[in-house]
Amino acid sequence: MDRFIMRVLVFFFLCMFFIIACDPKEVPMPDEDFELEAPSYFGSYNERIPEDNPITQKGFELGRMLFYEKKLSGDNSMSCASCHQQSKAFTDGKAISPGIDGINGKVSTMSLVNLLWAEKFTWNGKMETVEAQSTEPIRNPIEMHENFENAIQKLEEAGYSRLFQEAFESEEITEELIGKALSQFQRALVSSNSKYDQYLRGEYEPTQSERRGEQLFFTHPIPGQLRGGNCGDCHLGPLTSGAIDGFQGFHNNGLDDDDNMDEGLMAVTGNPADKGRFKTPSLRNIALTAPYMHDGRFETLEEVIEHYDNGIHQSSTLDILIIEGSNENQASGDQPQLFLTEQEKDDIIAFLHMLTDEDFINNPQFSNPFEDDENN
Ligand code: HEC
Ligand code: HEC
Repeated sequence: MDRFIMRVLVFFFLCMFFIIACDPKEVPMPDEDFELEAPSYFGSYNERIPEDNPITQKGFELGRMLFYEKKLSGDNSMSCASCHQQSKAFTDGKAISPGIDGINGKVSTMSLVNLLWAEKFTWNGKMETVEAQSTEPIRNPIEMHENFENAIQKLEEAGYSRLFQEAFESEEITEELIGKALSQFQRALVSSNSKYDQYLRGEYEPTQSERRGEQLFFTHPIPGQLRGGNCGDCHLGPLTSGAIDGFQGFHNNGLDDDDNMDEGLMAVTGNPADKGRFKTPSLRNIALTAPYMHDGRFETLEEVIEHYDNGIHQSSTLDILIIEGSNENQASGDQPQLFLTEQEKDDIIAFLHMLTDEDFINNPQFSNPFEDDENN
């Protein structure tokens, strides 16, 4: 009998042990210690962080160091931040950027902003994840041009092993973990304190021009009834990007005719209907990221507006939203034009300036952690 009670008791304690050990609430959440602040109007984000790469404070800090680390390039002269500079909302002010060997790439540096809500990466969407696009430039011969064997050896020599241990509980530095740390840092690059955000939160009273600009930006025009700039048809909602609910919008916004256009999404899908279609970028901090478009062809926002107003090139893949977005009735076959007034153009530009976020470009958490290094 005593033995029976003993067994029951042992069984009972074992059960309790397993229940406590397996209770999900008892397992520390890896991202518990990292505070990511994002407004609800960007949409939820927890489920958008990959399960195998949650953002942790240590991982973020390591990612920040790697982002500014020139040892990741072949001749130790270039880091991610050489092209993605915080003061320019993580672009570089160039139409096309050369890598360490001085060879030019084909497309313009993209801003790194609110990547957590983007679906595809790079101008033609060839990358499915931030992780994939984070190690590619290191190896790319016209960018940082370094192999991972060398890069990892340099990181080990510089004492990074301890930081990888702390962030990932791994003694070993690997390409995969470099990509993961860089991605944690980049996913935390949230810009949500522009004048437009302050206005959405009821903290800023827009000027008349900014108000009209917002209205025009988000209105699809109906000739004779409703004036619109048509921008929000593709640059959607407060993110002003093409991504929505698991979908990434790629469009041909009329930069070139059939004979002169770049491949765009077709390079990825092989589908001729995708020729000239590019990822619709976020316009957040757009006043800081000139020159514009995938090839950096426009120097100013005024030139961009002129393009959409009366510079559209017709082609077989020109987007229907551009063909059908005009403030006047146009005959089919006419060059699609918006027919904006000068005042309306100024108003849209005033709205675009509302998207500048000074806190984002001055956030010390995103800045170069190597204080003595002035070249980044
Ligand atoms: C030589 C300049 C240069 C360097 C160095 C560079 N990038 Fe970029 N970055 C670019 C260009 C150009 C693009 C657009 C690429 C394309 O469309 O094919 C880009 C695109 C990206 C994107 C996609 C953004 C989006 O919204 O789709 C990410 C993420 C990115 N880079 C991260 C990094 C990281 C991380 C590093 C460092 C390991 C890095 N880049 C180094 C120029 C550079
Ligand atoms: C049919 C969809 C569509 C419409 C409508 C549209 N855009 Fe765009 N926009 C795009 C795409 C796609 C790109 C990238 C094209 C490229 O680089 O090849 C882009 C690029 C831009 C850029 C350059 C971004 C950068 O990072 O270089 C600006 C600025 C811009 N658009 C502003 C506007 C404004 C303002 C309007 C309204 C007047 C507007 N767009 C209407 C799809 C659209």
